[in-house]
Amino acid sequence: MDTITLLKPDDFHLHLRDGGEMASIVGDSARRFARAVVMPNLVPPVVSVQQALGYRQRILACLPHNPGFDPLMTLYLTDDSSREEVDRVAESDKVCAFKYYPAGATTHSASGVTAIKKVMPLLEYMAHRDVPLLVHGEVTDADVDVFDREKAFIERVLAPLAEELGSLRIVFEHITTSDAVQFVTGESEKIAATITPHHLILNRNAMLSGGINPHHYCLPVLKRERHRQALVTAAVSGNPKFFLGSDSAPHPARSKEKPPCCAGIYNACVAIESYAAVFDAMNSLDTLEKFASRNGARFYGLPLNTQTITLRREQWRVPNMLTFADTMLVPFRAGETCQWKLLREQ
Ligand code: NCD
Ligand code: ZN
Repeated sequence: MDTITLLKPDDFHLHLRDGGEMASIVGDSARRFARAVVMPNLVPPVVSVQQALGYRQRILACLPHNPGFDPLMTLYLTDDSSREEVDRVAESDKVCAFKYYPAGATTHSASGVTAIKKVMPLLEYMAHRDVPLLVHGEVTDADVDVFDREKAFIERVLAPLAEELGSLRIVFEHITTSDAVQFVTGESEKIAATITPHHLILNRNAMLSGGINPHHYCLPVLKRERHRQALVTAAVSGNPKFFLGSDSAPHPARSKEKPPCCAGIYNACVAIESYAAVFDAMNSLDTLEKFASRNGARFYGLPLNTQTITLRREQWRVPNMLTFADTMLVPFRAGETCQWKLLREQ
């Protein structure tokens, strides 16, 4: 197969930033994806539907030539989120979920939830209104090793939550371990997971071997090879619980290259192409459309996209640097040869 045509994919986990930064990158996503679930971790965070709709307008204003792109907004769950806001999300077709960041877990998560107990009544109400919860699945407890934070989150937070509140729809975002694959696979259809291209392609050697590479530092942090293999198996399986969420998260090169290095990898400029390469290497291009264009829409209760994209097996070189507002960023796979090329949208 030298070309593949897919229903236009959706990106169920994306960081677009704001202002000039957003203006320089959002086109990369809009070319490849029909819809994107946009993360709310701006500074200050997006905590109300009103703020989310304002942010959505700013996104669309950056895309005068791409009117088809539909940003699906999320609200940042805090200890103070209210039932009224849950009602507003339930009634909005532009805001689709709440995002749970454990306080201090990742970039711009200072306003995150300090303890799940504090938000339990609200989560019950979200389940009642069928508003999904998107989780950054890492504990921040000082006793837990960075590489074990996802596994500990499953044990300490997610499994008990799923047990107590079986009716809540949960997306376990950017999973990185075989433990997460196993957990999600064994749970009801209310629990699904997104998988990033970088966690499918890289293991932690890419960050730590032969010198530290800050451009491969993201959260949750890259894990060992057997975890990467479990993620690939889950992604290509066609299992409707697993779908595309790029977690593309741009930072200026200077913020990555000077300590402390910001967490986040910008992959939007090579996202669907990278997923295609992974599926191709597994002889599984036939399940790419499920992972990229069908499973997530089904989980979120969205109609399938009608547009398509076509990828061709053709080598091209990923740029070393991209403009990012008044500075530069280093994208995922910078300078590498990519085997699949985005041809056109229809
Ligand atoms: C994200 C960011 O930079 O906003 N960083 C990351 O490493 N993934 C935040 C997040 O999703 O954790
Ligand atoms: Zn993210």
